[in-house]
Amino acid sequence: MTDTSSNSPKSGASMWGGRFSQATDAFVAEFTASVTFDQRMANQDIAGSIAHATMLEHIGCLNFDEKNAIVDGLTQIRGEISRGEFQWSVALEDVHMNIESRLTALIGDAGKKLHTGRSRNDQVATDIRLWLREQIDALLKLLHRLMSGMLGLAEQHTNTIMPGFTHLQTAQPVSFGHHVMAWFEMMMRDAQRLKEVRVRVNQMPLGSAALAGTTFPIDRHMTAELLGFEGICENSLDGVSDRDFAIEFAAAGSLLMMHLSRMSEEMILWMSAQFGFVKLPDRFCTGSSIMPQKKNPDVPELVRGKCARVFGQLTTLLTLMKNQPLAYNKDNQEDKEPLFDCVDTLSGCLLAFSDLIPEIEPQPKAMREATLKGYATATDLADYLVRRGLPFRDAHEAVGSAVGLAVELGCDLSDLSFEQLSAFSPMIGEDVFEILTLEGSLAARDHLGGTAPNQVTAAVARGRTRLEALKLNGESA
Ligand code: ARG
Repeated sequence: MTDTSSNSPKSGASMWGGRFSQATDAFVAEFTASVTFDQRMANQDIAGSIAHATMLEHIGCLNFDEKNAIVDGLTQIRGEISRGEFQWSVALEDVHMNIESRLTALIGDAGKKLHTGRSRNDQVATDIRLWLREQIDALLKLLHRLMSGMLGLAEQHTNTIMPGFTHLQTAQPVSFGHHVMAWFEMMMRDAQRLKEVRVRVNQMPLGSAALAGTTFPIDRHMTAELLGFEGICENSLDGVSDRDFAIEFAAAGSLLMMHLSRMSEEMILWMSAQFGFVKLPDRFCTGSSIMPQKKNPDVPELVRGKCARVFGQLTTLLTLMKNQPLAYNKDNQEDKEPLFDCVDTLSGCLLAFSDLIPEIEPQPKAMREATLKGYATATDLADYLVRRGLPFRDAHEAVGSAVGLAVELGCDLSDLSFEQLSAFSPMIGEDVFEILTLEGSLAARDHLGGTAPNQVTAAVARGRTRLEALKLNGESA
């Protein structure tokens, strides 16, 4: 519930009433307010205030009763907010002043002491970091679920053969499991990036106060420990004004979305009648209101589209910070909505994909037929000739001519007779047909990172261990 009337609180009752002889203009109050969106950080704001009050008591700036009243009051407010009973007021501008004002209404004078030795500038910077830290952990959990789904899918399809593409032209046969494990690698790097960003997010600005620190003998180590921060912002000017961490997060999120869009694109292509490589369960698709035959891959399409938001928010945040002089500026209030939108978009897309990926139904027959159409084993034939002593360039030339003949005859390389094939090189023996099979081609790429089914199986096993390690680190962080 948000009260948008400007007469709450009455003029003169605002947090800076003392210096002002006029009440804030109604439009200005609304224009400068952030409470409609920053109330999302209410729990973090309360946690920060409880830690601050605990520290203030420790250094003798609050007595025991005052501190307890503050903690009890804030706990009550947290309940009111979670039950939807809290009266948010735009006139109180933001989440910080709304909560502080309610606290004073509840507990009286002790509430007015809470802001000792801090400012909204370090308070808001602390809140965003606490909020983002939590969100990163939730995103990492989703990524973990997605990656584990990929491992399961890859494991089932180490022997499912599909065309591997370069330039979207059939290149060489690959295992579908190998393809899925390529996605896994992308996601693994994204997870690592998020974890690395989390370290820089998890630094505490509290204690920077407005910009220069405070005259009270605050114990920043104590608040940092209470709030679970890994480190403390070393410079107060930087502490209140740094938003690099949000930009870095949006950049890591953009890379993640870029990867999801590539996967989306592949699923969309594969689902088309022209490819027919996969089916997606009906519950992830929608139909057309006019064309009765349609089954559209809406989820991957929307994920591909939502990439635009995250890239856009990254640009918004970069542009927001460009040219800002030290230290805090009101501009910074504009950091929240782009950041929230990045997080919401990422979590929606990861949730959709972690549900969808394990449900992909590959169509081995269609994949195989497509692979057989594209002369995908031409490189295998060239490699065969090299093993028999022909320099690679000459082998390339000979196989190119053999493909030319097959194209002319409208058949695959393996459909040519021994006589036809050996005409291109005397080094071609009767055993050539073994290496022209799709299975032979796959099995021959038997080294770390190759597409041989046993290598894919090993990659899945290593993937499980790596995923486990990632989870353990994420949880201990
Ligand atoms: N609502 C403000 C923000 O989001 C909080 C800090 C305001 N500080 C100030 N000095 N006006 O950035």
